[in-house]
Amino acid sequence: MEQGVTLEGKRILLIIGGGIAAYKSLDLIRRLRERGASVRVVLTAAGKQFVTPLSVASLTGNPVHEDLFCLTEETEMGHIELSRSADLLVVAPATADLLAKAAAGIANDLASTILLATDKKVLMAPAMNVRMWDHPATVRNVAQLREDGLLFVGPSDGEMACGEYGPGRMSEPMEILASIAGALQPTSQVLAGRRVIVTSGPTHEPIDPVRYIANRSSGRQGHAIAAAAAQAGAHVTLVTGPVSISDPVGVSVVRVETAKEMLAAVKASLPADIFIGAAAVADWGFEKPAAGKIKKEKGSGPPTLALVENPDILAEVSRPGESRPALVVGFAAETGNLIDHARTKLQRKGCDLIVANDVGPGTGVMGGPKNTVHLISSDQQEAWPLLDKGEVARRLIQRFAGMLGK
Ligand SMILES: Cc1cc2nc3c(=O)[nH]c(=O)nc-3n(C[C@H](O)[C@H](O)[C@H](O)COP(=O)(O)O)c2cc1C
Repeated sequence: MEQGVTLEGKRILLIIGGGIAAYKSLDLIRRLRERGASVRVVLTAAGKQFVTPLSVASLTGNPVHEDLFCLTEETEMGHIELSRSADLLVVAPATADLLAKAAAGIANDLASTILLATDKKVLMAPAMNVRMWDHPATVRNVAQLREDGLLFVGPSDGEMACGEYGPGRMSEPMEILASIAGALQPTSQVLAGRRVIVTSGPTHEPIDPVRYIANRSSGRQGHAIAAAAAQAGAHVTLVTGPVSISDPVGVSVVRVETAKEMLAAVKASLPADIFIGAAAVADWGFEKPAAGKIKKEKGSGPPTLALVENPDILAEVSRPGESRPALVVGFAAETGNLIDHARTKLQRKGCDLIVANDVGPGTGVMGGPKNTVHLISSDQQEAWPLLDKGEVARRLIQRFAGMLGK
């Protein structure tokens, strides 16, 4: 979340469903109001079991809406008016039940009727037990809602109130806030109708079923680029290695583990107008990871691990041919001789542009919120100042759109 972000004058209609994570929505209300947004809340009957109307009303400074058949409100068609007078609808926690109703178009209480009656953007922040999230019915409902254009933030991995671990935890209020800010941002649609593939995060190269080689990439820069491309109107496929950050709003996400899987996912996602290889793909992996855990045998010493070269995704995508995107952008993460290495990489891979960043110790770039990048093409070299990764992403997208237009 960028510091100093303002939501001045924005009107948020927050639907609070019946999950333990409802308590986080109280914090979300506070943070929204701190940034100048006004918040009206619809509390479902189940939501009321977790947070009280009194807390919600005190925090929003507005009456809480609970009942579809409320005589005073429905003389003015309250369910329509609530949606009409909002800039954005946010459902947090979005329970399995609310997702199912929204996906099926069921309208049997105030929350679900508003979701069916609205023409505003809707941001869902799901929260549920990992088995509920993984259930084929929920998977189907989420896919349907994404297809219908609803936005999602989270869920993230973590320990849940039910004591289980996995995806299903509602995103933290600050993450939801960042997605709200993103959803509300007026964007120039410089990539409207374009197809963009972004790779992000590290890859994990398994040694055996319990060990792997990885790197420190967090996926923050790649995910921010995918989000910025989506906000600019592109159809975005994000192919991501294992990361612990939330999916960006409005993009199709393909999760992979190894470099080989990443290459296969990228190929399956082609054709595209732009390919942006921001992932920190492992250069080497293992031909055949051990089938069982490698045991520490007494007296036999450490095992010898023989690495083999991984496929070169950037070089493969850059190769001339029908499926080559019009613009292929690679990233170079270096700890020294940044510009020289980036120039060599540009020539070796055959891509159109390299975004080079210094990831040396002490820079805080890998895993951190900020980045200093250099843009290297065959006829240009440009150094950008230290910027928030979100800002780097937005500026890159503007630049790529310009290059595509030439
Ligand atoms: C203690 C408790 C915790 C619950 N937590 C969740 C949850 O996190 N996510 C969820 O989808 N359902 C959860 N449920 C089930 C929902 O409350 C139930 O499906 C309810 O009908 C959802 O109503 P809604 O559509 O108003 O959200 C929980 C139920 C209980 C009793």
